[in-house]
Amino acid sequence: MENKKVIRKDFRRLNTLQTNYLSYMKSLSDEGRDHPVVWNIMHMYSSAQLAKVLANKRGIDEELAAITAAIHDIGAVMTKTQKNHAEAGEIYVYEFLEKYNETFRGDSPIITKKEIDSIAYAVVRHSQKDVADEDDLTELLKDVDSLDRYLHGVKTKGAHYDRCVRVAKEMGIEISLSTLN
Ligand SMILES: [Fe+2]
Repeated sequence: MENKKVIRKDFRRLNTLQTNYLSYMKSLSDEGRDHPVVWNIMHMYSSAQLAKVLANKRGIDEELAAITAAIHDIGAVMTKTQKNHAEAGEIYVYEFLEKYNETFRGDSPIITKKEIDSIAYAVVRHSQKDVADEDDLTELLKDVDSLDRYLHGVKTKGAHYDRCVRVAKEMGIEISLSTLN
């Protein structure tokens, strides 16, 4: 096998904010929630890893994609409901990422205003799985969200299904189509 040079990526910002948000989510109660918090934790963590892989494949900034995926359901975490959680997430994306910059980033680099705007844009639109957005980061988030749910065994249909099929093909991986619907 050809010996390729491994490029180590800088994921300090992602790791710092994931660590901080994990501590926060672990402190939350499940009472009154549509889904237990452990689901949000599992889903957002694995979505972040999938986002790196898919971003690499598509030539998109891997860390920005992973940060977006790592907090994409912040609206559901904060409001306890799935209803309109994408739109509801906007204010919390700004709040959390500004807090990252101002209070807990330590030695990790800042997340720029432009990056925060891009993250918020994708988060707000990520529930519209049947819409093909012109923005690459938004489309990546929708694909990653669909695939990650499927990989956790969530019943997958409609636009989520279509995205899973497309992404599996793109990544050259086999998914069990018979269990999708
Ligand atoms: Fe999600």
